[in-house]
Amino acid sequence: MRKLVKNNVSWVGKIDWELESFHGADYSINHGSSQNAYLIQEEKTVLIDTVWKPHTTDFIDNLAKEIDLKSIDFIVANHGEVDHSGSLPALMEKIPNTPIYCTANGVKSLVGQYHHPEWNFKVVKTGDSVDIGNGKQLVFVEMRMLHWPDSMATYLTGDNILFSNDAFGQHFAVEELFNDRADQCLLWEESIKYYANILNPFSPLVKKKVEEVLALKLPIDIIAPSHGVIWRENPTQIVEKYYEWSQNYQEDQVTVIYDTMWEGTEKLAHSISRELSLQSPKTRIKLFNVSKTDKNDIMTQVFMSKAIALGSPTVGQSILSSVGGWLDFLKELKFKNKKAAVFGCYGWSGEGNKELRQRLTEAGFNVVDSEIKCNWNPREEDLAGAKEIAAELLS
Ligand code: FEO
Repeated sequence: MRKLVKNNVSWVGKIDWELESFHGADYSINHGSSQNAYLIQEEKTVLIDTVWKPHTTDFIDNLAKEIDLKSIDFIVANHGEVDHSGSLPALMEKIPNTPIYCTANGVKSLVGQYHHPEWNFKVVKTGDSVDIGNGKQLVFVEMRMLHWPDSMATYLTGDNILFSNDAFGQHFAVEELFNDRADQCLLWEESIKYYANILNPFSPLVKKKVEEVLALKLPIDIIAPSHGVIWRENPTQIVEKYYEWSQNYQEDQVTVIYDTMWEGTEKLAHSISRELSLQSPKTRIKLFNVSKTDKNDIMTQVFMSKAIALGSPTVGQSILSSVGGWLDFLKELKFKNKKAAVFGCYGWSGEGNKELRQRLTEAGFNVVDSEIKCNWNPREEDLAGAKEIAAELLS
């Protein structure tokens, strides 16, 4: 069923209430998601993006109830990732010669995934436009690396709608569709999680792209991303947030993260948290066991932090695999301008802190000298090391 966005523009996507993860298991979905596709019906009928393959039948059946599929003059594929292109093969079987507008990299990803080089691709680049009648045009803006090399946004003149694809989205199911109708608390929680866990590695490019788009001085009445809410009330608020988030964002927060074997490293984590709070009562302190908290939620807190303390006991001359796996993902997200401290217990050889230090440095953190390396269970004098860690992280 279509939902009206504005004038002759409708949402024809899929609200995916039951989705639990995204990018394999790399991104947790806590409040559903959506794959937003849009239908424009001016003198030309245009479909912008499709939905993920499991929803193909629903998507095509619903679209066919709204329009004769053969009336689609062309398709815009803003991005080739399967959550937006997964229904293309089935749709193209029904309308095989329909032009598909996308970037040159879009052709590579669509052909690579679906093996149909014969599709009628129309390659576009930034500034190219196509007339859709009634005095309106679609103008294309490449969004390279936001977040794939093929990503693109499409701007509809006249209605002043920016179809931004993944940029400015959230994995968040909202039946009411629009930002002003959504639960504001969840909307911002999901927006920052999405930025921290998907877009942060590309922050320098986000900053540049936002500056480029703002310099065009395009009137923007609506930002219609491919996931989550459509921004119609103060739509550029999310653009301003992206600009802020793209510049080594941090708040007055320190996050303590650990895993533990026999509660020793856990005791160190708690003593560091207490000391941080004692030394700086105004600073927000968060504490997480990586085995018991969703990794993406911890990453969001790291994104918001000016410093972290990371602990693991030594095991097998290294660290716990829960912390090791978490560090792999941390490195991928390319956080910058954040301090880190390490801590951990050991029984015999004690390589854990060295491993943590090395891997945090590789992940781009400034690792402070102070640490707690505790043989067996912590004694009072071991906990005293928390004072130095807190002082260095807060300085
Ligand atoms: Fe929503 Fe990059 O796919």
